[in-house]
Amino acid sequence: MNKNILITGAAGFIGFHLSIKLIDEGFNVFGIDNINEYYDVKLKIDRLKKIEDHAKLNNCKWEFLKSDIVQNEILEGIFEKFKPEIVINLAAQAGVRYSIENPGAYLNSNVIGFGNILECCRRYKIRHLIYASSSSVYGGNKKIPFSENDGVNHPVSLYAATKRSNELMAHTYSHLYNLPTTGLRFFTVYGPWGRPDMSYFIFTSKILKKETIQIFNNGEMERDFTYIDDVTESILKIIKKGTKDFKEFNFSEAIPSISWCPFKILNIGNSSPVKLMDFIKTLENNLGKKAKKEFTSMQPGDVQKTYADTSLITKFIEYNPKTNLDKGIKLFLNWYLEYYDK
Ligand SMILES: NC(=O)c1ccc[n+]([C@@H]2O[C@H](COP(=O)([O-])OP(=O)(O)OC[C@H]3O[C@@H](n4cnc5c(N)ncnc54)[C@H](O)[C@@H]3O)[C@@H](O)[C@H]2O)c1
Repeated sequence: MNKNILITGAAGFIGFHLSIKLIDEGFNVFGIDNINEYYDVKLKIDRLKKIEDHAKLNNCKWEFLKSDIVQNEILEGIFEKFKPEIVINLAAQAGVRYSIENPGAYLNSNVIGFGNILECCRRYKIRHLIYASSSSVYGGNKKIPFSENDGVNHPVSLYAATKRSNELMAHTYSHLYNLPTTGLRFFTVYGPWGRPDMSYFIFTSKILKKETIQIFNNGEMERDFTYIDDVTESILKIIKKGTKDFKEFNFSEAIPSISWCPFKILNIGNSSPVKLMDFIKTLENNLGKKAKKEFTSMQPGDVQKTYADTSLITKFIEYNPKTNLDKGIKLFLNWYLEYYDK
């Protein structure tokens, strides 16, 4: 094993934290990102600077190239030169609501881009492809908690449909080319250096500016918030666990989360959903400020509740998320107030 890991979407929220974690673990990390303008580019550049400083300080190997996974030739050049053993695909057009406004961005990055990643993984015989799926794939499901073995055939946004299509595309490559793939269904990941398009970030910014926050579905929403360090710790454990146990499929009880080929899907969530109004109270208490609230209807493409069944990942890597919402929000706010000099 050459310890070379390629992380796509390295300037993004999860990619940033994962790059630092894997650098610290002694991996040679090569990051790529197209640094698009979906949200504040400065935040992405600052994350990259921080990774670079961290790698220099600790005398570790880190390389970055601004590039787009949709551009296949450049991607192939990166695989050829860097020779990754493991690929972690986090590059995607994220966000549920934006997929109504700009569906093309999702088709490009999440479908064509992901197809290019799969092709490169096949051609360069990658040992393990780990890729970001999403809790959104559970769509209109009402059975809770959401299990990887539930049907996911009722997506309610194009974002969700592209993420589900990634899982299906990955299965094909696992079957046809014996490419080991693990899809991770993340549940509302939050923390320092987070994503400005997500509600915890928007609410914080608006509460501090004394602006009105919009509360969708009249507050009847729940989210299974997952702290970033619990996510990166899980990914590290999945990398270390490797692909040895991929063959445990029983045809007589064919379940969707695994297969006869080296294919796996895992939820990464907290398994403790928080009501939107309780979440806002946590923010208000920690900020010492009351939010001005406007209650409004459900947004198209959104789901009312997310709740992860984490029994599979718990068994697989002894998953044990350590950060509750109050602690995680304190850590996020400490960063936010310092970064934006509030
Ligand atoms: N944060 C969450 O709560 C969450 C939940 C479910 C799934 N996910 C998924 O996890 C992954 C990482 O999410 P994140 O929160 O870090 O999002 P993010 O938007 O912060 O990071 C994604 C990064 O990918 C880059 N990117 C987008 N299209 C690209 C392309 N074509 N080529 C190269 N780079 C490209 C963006 O510039 C961005 O920096 C995404 O695939 C996202 O869909 C995230």
